[in-house]
Amino acid sequence: MDTIQIHDKTFEIFIEEDQILSRVKELAQAISIDFAGTQPLFIAVLNGSFIFAADIMKSIAFPCEIQFVKVSSYHGAQSSGTVQQVLGLNQNIKGRKVIIIEDIIDSGLTIDFLLTDLLKQEPESISICSLLLKPKALKVKIDVQYIGFEVENHFLVGYGLDYDGLGRNLRHLYQVIE
Ligand code: IMP
Ligand code: MG
Repeated sequence: MDTIQIHDKTFEIFIEEDQILSRVKELAQAISIDFAGTQPLFIAVLNGSFIFAADIMKSIAFPCEIQFVKVSSYHGAQSSGTVQQVLGLNQNIKGRKVIIIEDIIDSGLTIDFLLTDLLKQEPESISICSLLLKPKALKVKIDVQYIGFEVENHFLVGYGLDYDGLGRNLRHLYQVIE
């Protein structure tokens, strides 16, 4: 088995690029059916979702827009438990259908923070599309409409996800070897 080293941790392949990309296409197709004719606004959560968001957008079959927000909660391989908005939204979302694109939902605190913030602007609806979900790590209840893969509580890198800044460029998803 191929392993890679990032900082002090060793990782092995968890989900290969082909499998990720075919799942991403399925999610984009489902969104394309559900939102046909409604011109939703995608809001991608930086940094981790940049590759996932790009691949989702490429397979969306209708005119749509994308904006980016940046929030920060993770330090190294641990959630800090507090979420900060680092880059805000520069577009009004009142009355819009919004689809949040996230790389991974772990404790759920990041998404919860964003939802609370975005709901103040009175969008018509907010849906969530996350490549990954760690159900056993959730600390708040979140309705996620589009999930790529449900995973165990292991730390992952690759396909946009990082460990202390590194690993985002890896084409596969890798899981830490404990
Ligand atoms: P939450 O607020 O605990 O749900 O954490 C969400 C954010 O933490 C995600 O958007 C990621 O940026 C980061 N994160 C959570 N789990 C992982 C992981 O396994 N690898 C890399 N980043 C992660
Ligand atoms: Mg993220």
